[in-house]
Amino acid sequence: MAAKRNFLKQFFKDRKMVGAVSPSTKFLGEKMLASIDFDKAKGIVELGPGTGVFTDIIMQRMRKDAKLLVFELNDDFYETLSARIDDPRVQIIHDSAENIAKYLPEEEQTTQDAVISSLPLMVFPAELRQAVVDAGYNSLKPKGTYVQFQYSLQSKKFLESIYKSVKITFTIKNFPPAFVYTCKKK
Ligand SMILES: C[S@@+](CC[C@H](N)C(=O)[O-])C[C@H]1O[C@@H](n2cnc3c(N)ncnc32)[C@H](O)[C@@H]1O
Repeated sequence: MAAKRNFLKQFFKDRKMVGAVSPSTKFLGEKMLASIDFDKAKGIVELGPGTGVFTDIIMQRMRKDAKLLVFELNDDFYETLSARIDDPRVQIIHDSAENIAKYLPEEEQTTQDAVISSLPLMVFPAELRQAVVDAGYNSLKPKGTYVQFQYSLQSKKFLESIYKSVKITFTIKNFPPAFVYTCKKK
């Protein structure tokens, strides 16, 4: 309950950054992560974890030798998540999602298996939207997977212009109901 209240508080502080009034449901998390082959994935990037609903599921499923980079720009979410998560596989980064490349060693650029994004793309200025999606794309290996949830279908054309394929599913088991975009790199 406290986490939900804090989420709403962060929304009122910065609507455009937070982009939602409450954390996502675990059900949406399951849908977001259904296409990821956790038995194989060694490099995963999460953008915009908020209170960490998806982060927790990723940590339960990821390999012992996998790495998870988590980008959270909001001060409060970053501090709360950093205090809560103590796992050597996970690096929580207080920086904007467009800077992924800065945190990947030379030999790990363009090698990530999956990027899981909750960023409120359509409330971002166009330039930031392009920069964060490009950063995700560039971090992925060939045939890597980018998963994004949104509350509308507005991102369809944009993501189709970048990824080889985009599949969209919908769930009402979230507030608000959400579309999950699962995108594959060439
Ligand atoms: C819609 S919330 C989703 C939170 C959480 N993943 C969930 O589903 O409950 C969007 C999150 O993206 C974060 N965010 C917004 N802009 C960001 C940026 N440029 N880089 C990293 N995180 C950002 C917000 O602070 C917020 O935590």
